Amino acid sequence: MTPFSLLLLPGDGIGPEIVEVAQLVIENIASISGRDIVIDREIAGGASIDQFGHPLRPVVLEKARQSDAVLIGAMGGPQWDFLPTDRRAAIALLTLRKELGLFANIRPVRAFPALLDASSLRPEIVRNVDMVIVRELVGGIYFGEPRGIEELVGGGKRGFNTETYSSDEVSRIGETAFELAKLRSGRVHSVDKANVLEASVVWRDAITNLHLAKFSDVDLDHMFVDNAAMQLVRDPKQFDVIVTGNIFGDILSDCAAMLSGSIGILPSASIGAKPSKGRRQGLYEPVHGTAPDIAGQGLANPIGTILSAAMMFEMSCDMPEEARLIEHAVEAALESGARTKDIANSGEFISTREMGEEIVRQIHVIASI
Ligand code: IPM
Ligand code: MG
Repeated sequence: MTPFSLLLLPGDGIGPEIVEVAQLVIENIASISGRDIVIDREIAGGASIDQFGHPLRPVVLEKARQSDAVLIGAMGGPQWDFLPTDRRAAIALLTLRKELGLFANIRPVRAFPALLDASSLRPEIVRNVDMVIVRELVGGIYFGEPRGIEELVGGGKRGFNTETYSSDEVSRIGETAFELAKLRSGRVHSVDKANVLEASVVWRDAITNLHLAKFSDVDLDHMFVDNAAMQLVRDPKQFDVIVTGNIFGDILSDCAAMLSGSIGILPSASIGAKPSKGRRQGLYEPVHGTAPDIAGQGLANPIGTILSAAMMFEMSCDMPEEARLIEHAVEAALESGARTKDIANSGEFISTREMGEEIVRQIHVIASI
């Protein structure tokens, strides 16, 4: 079997410390399974702006293109977030997603039984929550043209962006969501703002047509995004698969993070179309940001990145058993009381590294059974 090539882009803030721990997990899985994984590492994001004047050098983009998977920590920080658009740290992330054609961002949200009291919501509201947000990732207002900032005659400025969706873009992400729903409980909520935005009218039509044409065995509901935000905290268990556009998915997935107790434990996978044969390249990253206020102190929760690595084993390496092994090890670590600060409820907590080592220990315990 040819080796699996993985590119690590630790990025900024807490990125390097969580990726280091995720790498430990990946190396342990590689040695248990015998899968040959070749790991490379590059600089991207704010660190790359400081060192090379650009958030994503062409050589790094090319390496990403050639890899089977890319694992990212987090990118950005206040010193880079407000530079001119083409030099912001976030541009590295957005360029990778766009250039690699990774239009589907899969964000699972589960309530871990051991963490029910870490949520800001009551335990009976979040118990058994298990949903996936399928976010369109390379279209919508993030990429729509025209965009810009113009000086106004007489002073002041005008900033403008364009929310845009074509039926093809919507059908392609809809397909991903319906296929996923068939493997789960068979329910999809499509979230838009079709009472106001034309782009959402096209979104809703395309989802409805796709449903009629190919997925009538799946239950489909449409919901406006403002209502969806409220329903997520009112009665989250009504959701199984949510499909939505780029900016709505960005906002709703942070909101949904609270259902699982901490944004620090949420993973994500960004993938393109399923190839008829060969590898399915993916970009894996936790949902959280760079948390510069706690960077370098061993306070970050590495679980979001470790569970992103689990998604990588499932979706890009075709190793679903190893993915389950990592997930079970995370559950076991949480059951045994291991807590980083964000989920400790002011109780005792361990460091980023210690959490990683505890998960690796659980991996070996479970693998030896
Ligand atoms: C995310 C992040 C990114 C996004 C930022 C960092 C560009 O918030 O992945 O959710 O908005 O997509
Ligand atoms: Mg976000």
